[in-house]
Amino acid sequence: MNTPLSSDFWETRYQEGTTRWDIGKAAPAFVNLLQSDRAPSPGKTAVLGCGRGYDALLFAQAGHEVIGVDFAPSAIAAATDLAQQANLSVQFLQEDIFRFPQTYSHYFDYVVEHTCFCALSPEKRTAYINLVHTLLKSTGELLAIFFTHRREGGPPYGIQPSEIRELFTPQFDIIQLDPIKHSVPSKQGEEHFGRLRPRQ
Ligand SMILES: C[S@@+](CC[C@H](N)C(=O)[O-])C[C@H]1O[C@@H](n2cnc3c(N)ncnc32)[C@H](O)[C@@H]1O
Repeated sequence: MNTPLSSDFWETRYQEGTTRWDIGKAAPAFVNLLQSDRAPSPGKTAVLGCGRGYDALLFAQAGHEVIGVDFAPSAIAAATDLAQQANLSVQFLQEDIFRFPQTYSHYFDYVVEHTCFCALSPEKRTAYINLVHTLLKSTGELLAIFFTHRREGGPPYGIQPSEIRELFTPQFDIIQLDPIKHSVPSKQGEEHFGRLRPRQ
C-alpha cells in the first residue's frame, strides 16, 4: 500500500529526495516563540511526524526533553545524525504515531505539531486529535503550526481556522489561534499558530 497513510509513501519521498515540505531548518514560528516572553518553560515534549528533526532539535536546544516520532526510516536516520552533529540529546523513535507506546499516555507537557496533521488524510483527523489528548498531561499544551492553505486535495491537506476550532474544541480549549506573520516565503499567509490545552 503506497498511500499517504503508509510509511512507504513517505520513505520513497525521502529516498527520491522529493521532500518539498522540508525547509531545512526549524519553523520560524517556533524559533520566534522560543525567543519570546511567551516561550513555554522546558518540559517533556513530543514532536509528531518529526521528519529530519529540525523542530525537535530546536526544542532540545531550548532545554526541552524531546522525543521525535516518524515512521519513515530515512527521516529518523537523518534526524539522529543531525542530533549527533549538534551534540544534542534527543530520542528519535521510528514508529507510527498512532502506535505511540502506551507508556507515554499523559506523559508530555507539550506536543509539537508542524506539517504532520496536514500530511494525514482528513479521515484521520479525529484519531490525531484523540492521540494528542492521550499523550498530553492534563496541564499540557499542543503547540501547533497549521497549514491553512485553500488548495484542493493533498497531502498537504489544508484546513481553515473555523474547521480547527470545530474539530478541536470538544477536547481542547483554544488559547491562541492566529495567522503567522513570518513564515518561510513558500508558505507566507498560509499558516496559523495555535496553543491548545486539553479539556478534562
Ligand atoms: C510533510 S512531512 C513533515 C516532516 C517534518 N515535520 C518537517 O516539517 O520537515 C510529514 C512527515 O510525517 C511523517 N508521518 C506521516 N504519517 C505518519 C504516521 N502515521 N506516523 C509517523 N510519522 C508519520 C512522514 O514520514 C513525514 O516525515
